[in-house]
Amino acid sequence: MRVNAIAFERFDQMQDEACQERILAAKARLGKRLVILGHHYQREDVFRHADFTGDSLKLSRLAAASDAEYIVFCGVHFMAEVADILSRPDQISILPDLAAGCSMADMASLARVERAWRELAEVLDPDQAVTPVTYINSSADLKAFCGEHGGIVCTSSNAAKIMEWAFARREKVLFFPDQHLGRNTGARMGIPLEDMVLWDFDQPLGGLTSEQIRRARVILWKGYCSVHQMFQPQHVLRFRNQHPDGQVISHPECSHEVCQLSDYVGSTEFIIKTVAESAPGSRWLVGTELNLVNRLAERFKPEGKVVQFMAPTACMCSTMARIDPQHLAWTLDNLVEGKAVNRIRVPRGEAELARLALQRMLDAS
Ligand code: 13P
Ligand code: SF4
Repeated sequence: MRVNAIAFERFDQMQDEACQERILAAKARLGKRLVILGHHYQREDVFRHADFTGDSLKLSRLAAASDAEYIVFCGVHFMAEVADILSRPDQISILPDLAAGCSMADMASLARVERAWRELAEVLDPDQAVTPVTYINSSADLKAFCGEHGGIVCTSSNAAKIMEWAFARREKVLFFPDQHLGRNTGARMGIPLEDMVLWDFDQPLGGLTSEQIRRARVILWKGYCSVHQMFQPQHVLRFRNQHPDGQVISHPECSHEVCQLSDYVGSTEFIIKTVAESAPGSRWLVGTELNLVNRLAERFKPEGKVVQFMAPTACMCSTMARIDPQHLAWTLDNLVEGKAVNRIRVPRGEAELARLALQRMLDAS
């Protein structure tokens, strides 16, 4: 029997409390058939319902290992795509609000990357000389591009290992879409800044000369995260001035200047672990998304730790915040009725190539 989906309109105006009750009731009814994965940037009223939480690497491993029939991803679009690619064909990956994208991922489209590859071919043979490396914050077709061209995926927690993998195969890396993760990782590996050039995708030949391309070791796509670009060196300097004993920790999507001024740089999972393991009473300035920083501040208050947000203005991942209790309740109520709304399905051929690039990453890290 065909079941009609319950319309979202019934949930749109529902009070948060009512949504919370419905989510709990639906979870109880679905039991082990359902797993909810939640990224650390997820808002608290949704995050609390996640069965597992983590950074992008941990969540992709969890998606690959899950046995559940339904994987509901409280994160952004590329994460639900990765869950679909790495899970079995009979499992269903769901994103509660399809508008929850990643603005950085949108800065590199397949058409633009293919154009860059063609333009690079005017200067050198990219399939011999360049390993394409895509940050996991990218659409499935770009992961497929990497799979097809001997490339690989990386996350913020394994980028250095993946760059080593890439350099072991070809002399140069084309890194997209996040210039900052690429630059920070290259610098950490000892690559001079002048050997990393910026590919401006709005300019012919990326705005570079043939000579600059021939000399470069890393070609960085001109993409960035709108949240992490808000953190500035003066925020770190002001904190150091006020709290000489304080420590600074940043996500590698922050600018190179901010990362250089930080005591620690790493993924969301690394940030949580580092603050958790610090001495009671320690003070932290944290350069990453606000929901995570607020959660850290609350969690470690009883240990006397002070956790401060790096920017003076609120920087939230506004797209991830679209996954609200209303959308989660709507999604789960539909699953209870046997209807999978907002299913994320990557076309088969694309998924196979993308899986290749993702599997290379999981094997290498
Ligand atoms: P993590 O892999 O560190 O969780 O980062 C994901 C992300 O989108 C950061 O902006
Ligand atoms: Fe994308 Fe930035 Fe949001 Fe991360 S924080 S999901 S990079 S927009």
